[in-house]
Parts: sequence; structure tokens; C-alpha cells
Amino acid sequence: MGTLDGKTAFVTGAAMGNGEGIAAVMAEKGASVIMADLNDSVFETAKKIGAAAAYQTDVSDFAKVKEAACDAVRRFGKIDILVNNAGVARMIRVEDMSDELRDLHWRVNVVGCWNCVKAILPGMIERRYGRIVNMSSVTGPRVVDPGMMGYAISKAAIVGFTKAIAMDAARYGVTSNAILPGYFLTPMVMHSASETDPANPQRVLDGIARGVPLGRFGDPKEIGYLAAFLASDEAAYITGAEFVIDGGSTLPETGAMGVLDRKQEGR
Ligand SMILES: NC(=O)c1ccc[n+]([C@@H]2O[C@H](COP(=O)([O-])OP(=O)(O)OC[C@H]3O[C@@H](n4cnc5c(N)ncnc54)[C@H](O)[C@@H]3O)[C@@H](O)[C@H]2O)c1
Repeated sequence: MGTLDGKTAFVTGAAMGNGEGIAAVMAEKGASVIMADLNDSVFETAKKIGAAAAYQTDVSDFAKVKEAACDAVRRFGKIDILVNNAGVARMIRVEDMSDELRDLHWRVNVVGCWNCVKAILPGMIERRYGRIVNMSSVTGPRVVDPGMMGYAISKAAIVGFTKAIAMDAARYGVTSNAILPGYFLTPMVMHSASETDPANPQRVLDGIARGVPLGRFGDPKEIGYLAAFLASDEAAYITGAEFVIDGGSTLPETGAMGVLDRKQEGR
């Protein structure tokens, strides 16, 4: 018996990366998974992981989200779980402070989550049951690297959004929690590594992995296991909370002090 048997989960940004990992784990745990993504590869991914349905949709467009959610409810009767995972990350130079890139992060990473909650929460309230899992990041709420201002603002906003929903929807049996990942090896991270060092993105990736106490990137399925737990009945008493999953990457205080044999560790 799976912990998500009988549940219907709507996962955004599910065509690849973390969203694919989340959708795959939720399907393994018995959920009927509905995948939504801007990229038409969502249909191929849905076939691969045995999802119940897939929609090509832009989360920043409320009409499109509403259309997909209504169709999913018509076909599956309900949506129990919403995973707001779709997101974008682009570098912004502080010297430029591009308004366009600021707006892109806000539109997709914040308004996208808003739109999905607006479309799906009313059904959860009606049925007095729901699990909302929002993808934030350690970037913004905890730490930041250069060039991340648009992304960091959006991911910090998601923590506030998560708590506000948790407070307002608690009386309806709906929980809302945020996941704050460190580095997971996905197309987004590979793109950011190329933006950082176009000539040698692998150097950037190796450097990130070296800085993580567990010595590696996270696997998207490892975010999936956390999301599946937060979406299960076992997590009924958890709401408004933030869960860091980063292999310890936000632990180091200085990166220089201490008795670790750095040569031996290859750091
Ligand atoms: N990978 C990491 O290390 C990491 C760390 C912290 C947080 N996150 C967060 O996890 C989530 C997934 O990231 P990822 O690394 O898998 O990224 P990714 O770029 O590999 O995948 C993101 C997916 O979202 C989809 N998407 C983008 N804009 C969309 C839109 N407007 N409407 C619908 N779908 C859209 C893309 O098509 C893609 O399939 C994001 O919210 C990201 O901020 C990732």
C-alpha cells in the first residue's frame, strides 16, 4: 500500500528536473499524478513515469491554469495535492538590475504559484482536505550567490506566501509547507553554471559539489521523497513550515576554519 493511494496530485514544472522527480515519486507512492508544464516534453515525461495526465500550460497565465485544473477535476473528481514547483532562474547583474528579468522571476515563480492556488484551493476548501507544497529555495530565505537578486526575491516571497496560506486555510483542513532545496542537478542548474562560466560550466558544477558537506548534488527524487511525505496523511500536523534539503550546503560558517584535512578531502 502506498502512502498516497487514492490521492490526486497536480505537479507543475513536471517535465524535467525536480518536478519530474517529485511526480515520479508520487506516482510510485500510489497517487494519480497530473503534470503541468510549459514545455511540450511534459507528455513524454508523463508516459515515462506513468502519470495519469499531462497539460502543456503556462503557470503565469491564470486562464490556462484554471482550464487545466478544471479539466483535471472533471476527469479525476478532485485534486488533493498541489505541488507548486515550476520556476525559472536567470542571473541579474547588480550593475544592470534588469526590470525584465525581475518581472520574469516574479511572474513565473510567484504569480505562477498564486495562480495555481487560486485555481485549486477552492476545491480543497469545499472538500475540507488539501496539501499544498511550494518550492522555495535556500537562495533568498537563507543564503545567496552573486547575480541571484531576481530569483532570491521570488523564493523569499514564497516562504511568506506559504505561511499566509497555512494560516488562512488551516480551518479547512488544508496544509501548506515550503521546501527549500540546495543544489540539485537539473537543467536549471546546468543553465546557471553555463551563465556563470560559459567556457567551463563543469568547473562550476564541480565547485558546487565540493562545497556540499555530503559531497554531491541532490537527486530530484530526494526532493520527491520529502514532497511526498508532506503531501501524505502522515504529515497532517505539519503546516506553515520550511524544510531545508541541501546535503548540508548551508552549514559551513567560514569554509576556512577547522581541523578538517582539506588535502585529503580534495577541497
Ligand atoms: N535545481 C536546484 O538546485 C534548485 C534549488 C532550489 C530550488 N529549486 C526550485 O525547484 C523548482 C524546479 O527547478 P529545476 O531545477 O527542476 O528547474 P528546471 O529548469 O530544470 O525545470 C523547471 C521546469 O519548470 C517549467 N516551467 C518554467 N516556466 C514555466 C511556466 N511559466 N509554466 C509552467 N512550467 C514552467 C520548465 O519548462 C521546466 O520543465 C524551481 O522552482 C526551482 O526554483 C531548484
